Amino acid sequence: MFTLKSKIDTGSEDYKKNLDKYQDLLSEFRNRLNKVQKGGSEAAVKKHKERKKLLSRERIDLLVDRNTPFLELSSFAAYEQYNNQFPSAGIVTGIGVIHGRETIIIANDATVKGGTYIKETIKKHIRAQEIALENHIPIVYMVDSGGVFLPEQDEVFPDKYHFGRIFYNQSKLSAEGIVQVAIVMGSCTAGGAYVPAMSDETIIVKNQGTIFIGGPPLVKAATGEDVSAEELGGADVHTRISGVADHLADNDTHALQICRNIFENLNPAQKQNLGQIPIEPPHYDPEELYGIIPADPKKPIDPREIIMRIVDGSKFQEFKENYAPTIVTGFARIMGYPVGIIANQGVLFSETSLKAAHFVELCNYRKTPILFLQNISGFIVGKEYEHKGIARDGAKLVHAVSTASVPKFTVIFGGSYGAGNYAMAGRAYDPRFLFMWPNSRISVMGGEQAAEVLSRVKIDQMKAAGKEMPEEDIKKIKEDILEKYQHESSAYYSSSRLWDDGIIDPADTRKIIAMGIATSLNQPFPEPKTGVYRM
Ligand code: COA
Repeated sequence: MFTLKSKIDTGSEDYKKNLDKYQDLLSEFRNRLNKVQKGGSEAAVKKHKERKKLLSRERIDLLVDRNTPFLELSSFAAYEQYNNQFPSAGIVTGIGVIHGRETIIIANDATVKGGTYIKETIKKHIRAQEIALENHIPIVYMVDSGGVFLPEQDEVFPDKYHFGRIFYNQSKLSAEGIVQVAIVMGSCTAGGAYVPAMSDETIIVKNQGTIFIGGPPLVKAATGEDVSAEELGGADVHTRISGVADHLADNDTHALQICRNIFENLNPAQKQNLGQIPIEPPHYDPEELYGIIPADPKKPIDPREIIMRIVDGSKFQEFKENYAPTIVTGFARIMGYPVGIIANQGVLFSETSLKAAHFVELCNYRKTPILFLQNISGFIVGKEYEHKGIARDGAKLVHAVSTASVPKFTVIFGGSYGAGNYAMAGRAYDPRFLFMWPNSRISVMGGEQAAEVLSRVKIDQMKAAGKEMPEEDIKKIKEDILEKYQHESSAYYSSSRLWDDGIIDPADTRKIIAMGIATSLNQPFPEPKTGVYRM
């Protein structure tokens, strides 16, 4: 393969300006991440530690194989919502390696409102289960939760993807042969009691873990019976009398060791072989990405400059290099794994869509995972393009992306707008993972375009009624929309609502995508299958 050659001058004023701006974005990102990863209030953390309990991220550190990374997902869930009272939505999820197996870990954070579930907590929990299902990997639940956050009951209880879905998923996952282990490290109340009760094996910590359908106050109210939590559903009860739990642990560390022992005795994962070759670092330093993202988001970026800082040896076998240049397609290796890359370099035209759809088919039939690098303002508009059938050609790409049988990975490195988001494997198109860079933006269209469209609609409405809209009213509509879009299109706004799997440092992209590919190898990719392409 050819090694890409950079056209960036890392000594230029432009580069330095970009770098300065990006350093600010990165320190904001790191500070915010640091803050949410502290969990609940200082008082709640203190109380938790006084009970001799480990924090959720400390528990995860002890569970995973030493010197292996933990890929934490959606750390910014619920960020800037609920008065910031739910850091990471009170739950830590991610992929860690236990005895060599990629595993989903779902850990309640009891320092955040007793580990209770709001809408985003449930979304995060369910998303983690979905990742386990798609990639056929085990799950460890570290349970320490008071169940649903009762004031939010209308957002969390009865709907299809609310609390009940967690236990439905557990049954379905089990039927697919996916191993699930629960470690009860605190409270496990009401519906939450089903998490350990539906796992393959359950560990419970002595004088700390409890499992019950109704806690002591509810029992008292319902039957008048006086009973302590320990007597009702403590570790001794469940390992000796009820049999709801299988292993008794002395403390958190012991429980985590038992869980590791369970993994040690599982049958080894049957991973498919993609023909991984020795890893070669990129020829260009990934940290140069910070100086490549333009300080002005409207400036174009040649995505090859990004690709060469992500792929092994900066080597890229470009496909149809001279045809439809607003999309860049080609093959490369990431940490030794083969990957097809589709990256934007401008709006999507008919020929761009056809080129990308063709490339998706190549990847499908060669069983090569696809990485989508999104920086897309949308499909081209106008009479000429409609007459040429942009809708039909765009549909081919949307179809190819939707039915692709190989794993898709999406990274948004710039803007993600309109149907461009869909055609480039946005969240609705089931990429195995979708990550955003701190500078990236996502909304149905750009703020300026939305302001223009909405003010035009209002002006036309008034005109139809025989009136004219005063200039200052038009200005006000535009300003309001611009401000709203500016706020709502940020990566943090997206991550807070789980439209993605997290915000990542651009320099980590390569490692994170490689971990995603490694995870996807836990079951064979299905045979390609497509529907009707309109010609
Ligand atoms: N809904 C809403 N808030 C809850 C809650 C629930 N189910 N359970 C706990 N909280 C809140 C508390 O009000 C408290 O809020 P604050 O920090 O603003 O004061 C915070 O979570 C911590 O609770 P606290 O009781 O002080 O902590 P703890 O560690 O001693 O106990 C629990 C945690 C979860 C064991 C205990 O709060 C409890 O039993 N909660 C009720 C559980 C229940 O019955 N759930 C049924 C849901 S279907």
